Amino acid sequence: MTAPTNHKKLVEWVEEFKQLCEPDAVEWADGSKEEYDRMIKIMVDAGLATQLNPEKRPNSYLFRSDPSDVARVENRTYIASKDKEFAGPTNNWIDPVELKETMRGLYKGCMKGRTMYVIPFSMGPVGSDIAKIGVQISDSPYVVINMQIMTRVGTKVLEVLGDDGEFIKCMHSVGKPLGPGEADNGKWPCAPIEQKYISHFPEERAIWSYGSGYGGNALLGKKCLALRIASAQARDEGWMAEHMLILGITNPAGVKRYIAAAFPSACGKTNLAMLIPTVPGWKVECIGDDIAWMKFGEDGQLYAINPEAGFFGVAPGTSMDSNPNAMHSLKENSIFTNVGLTEDKDVWWEEIGYDAPGKLIDWHGNEWEQDKAEKPAAHPNARFTAPAAQCPAIDPAWEDPKGVPISAFLFGGRRPSTIPLVNEAFNWNHGVFLGSIVGSEITAAALDLKAGTIRRDPFAMLPFCGYNMGDYFQHWINMNKNAADPEKLPNIYFVNWFRKSPEGKFMWPGYGENSRVLQWIFERCEGTASAQETPIGNLPTADAISRPDGVDESTMAELVALDKEGWLKEIEDIRTGHYPKFGDKLPPELAALLDDLESRLKAA
Ligand code: OXD
Ligand code: MN
Repeated sequence: MTAPTNHKKLVEWVEEFKQLCEPDAVEWADGSKEEYDRMIKIMVDAGLATQLNPEKRPNSYLFRSDPSDVARVENRTYIASKDKEFAGPTNNWIDPVELKETMRGLYKGCMKGRTMYVIPFSMGPVGSDIAKIGVQISDSPYVVINMQIMTRVGTKVLEVLGDDGEFIKCMHSVGKPLGPGEADNGKWPCAPIEQKYISHFPEERAIWSYGSGYGGNALLGKKCLALRIASAQARDEGWMAEHMLILGITNPAGVKRYIAAAFPSACGKTNLAMLIPTVPGWKVECIGDDIAWMKFGEDGQLYAINPEAGFFGVAPGTSMDSNPNAMHSLKENSIFTNVGLTEDKDVWWEEIGYDAPGKLIDWHGNEWEQDKAEKPAAHPNARFTAPAAQCPAIDPAWEDPKGVPISAFLFGGRRPSTIPLVNEAFNWNHGVFLGSIVGSEITAAALDLKAGTIRRDPFAMLPFCGYNMGDYFQHWINMNKNAADPEKLPNIYFVNWFRKSPEGKFMWPGYGENSRVLQWIFERCEGTASAQETPIGNLPTADAISRPDGVDESTMAELVALDKEGWLKEIEDIRTGHYPKFGDKLPPELAALLDDLESRLKAA
């Protein structure tokens, strides 16, 4: 197939990898429905896709991955920069020359028996000033259809790229060449774990991925481009690429504000992004559930776009109770990976809100019965890929090329103690301090950490910051220094939906009830809600946030109280275990803020 573009560098890049990978054919993706259906047919024929019941789940398909290929592989994810210091203390660094040599060896002949797809895509509305173009090479038709949902793919993108536009090179192979006459035969293609590489070259804005066909390892627009590469680019160019959902919130008088919020993985970002408020008269609409790109507008405010076009959400736990808008989003035209399959060919997963209707086929492809099963039917990281446009709560401005103005940033993690329900930063730098100490308490002894310790995940960017995290903190500080009008920067809040009582019960119901906290934040931005200044920040007064059913007065008071002892321990943990990791890259502003906080607490 001849290239549908005169972009010399793009054509040369494709040719280079064609020579190296030796595919049987090269095809340029145009993003059409015809192409989508053709990819599906290839995968149904190869035994990799199961069509779901068209009456229950129109135009939707189930995939089961290899049991070794079920999630992002952080220990096989690399930042390859000339200097190790560029990658910093929180990333896996490899020398780019050495890494390319290793990976060229793996790529050699890796697409034999397969087609190489060239997928031009836009992260963000095509042509938006904030959007970026990427081109992904991949030998996976599963990647083609997922990219069609998650990004804007096709001919229009090539038009915007023109003959010499800038694009991010995203190279991907599942790493499973086929011999003559060999077919996948129902076996998800991937390479063994020690051959998997998810590599980033932030200095040349390139991604090389090998050996995995799953999620963020293979859909390179998402975590690889929109966070790791984009964060480095954003620092150089003075904008922000963040692991944040974006929501619009409207009060009963019709006033609307936008909020962006960062939480570590598995803290309910998708649920918050689409929540249905329990507070009468309030409305929440969704711009995005995972990533925000933000630039200053001419009016000096920060404007955000969602670079994605779909949701790649965790299925288990998603139900009509926890997130009805997500359930409606995946009613049709969706892809399901590693969920259970019912006898009438619909999907099922743990905590979907009802019992399994009879026998299932589990994510391994085996028969499964709820009463007898020892293991879940769906993998805990099973996913749905659903078009954002299908979300009933999608915001009318979600594709506005200029983005939406952000009034507030939220940071939070899973913290059973110490951190109050909500806390307002005194100012920008204090908010940056709060972002830098985000973390979740480890529940089971995992990741070599003892249960009860805090796994710090600054700004929820630990797995996603494509450069030195200390420099990233500095970039946040600089956003204020370089702002034309710092007064117009968003207010910053630290939230915690996960406080537990001494008996281990959640003290706050979460989900739709979080709208009560959003209301307070909204009204703080308007200047109408009350707060009290405390050593850790501005806390809501006891009756400033309305109480949901089941939360009594004393619980509410505790949720918004200052825990002096807890915070002194927190400071100790940050000072001895967290901040020293960043060495002399730690901005002096943050070290000073930690000292100031300690003095204020001790004086209180
Ligand atoms: C995600 C993650 O899948 O953050 O979005 O892990
Ligand atoms: Mn995420």
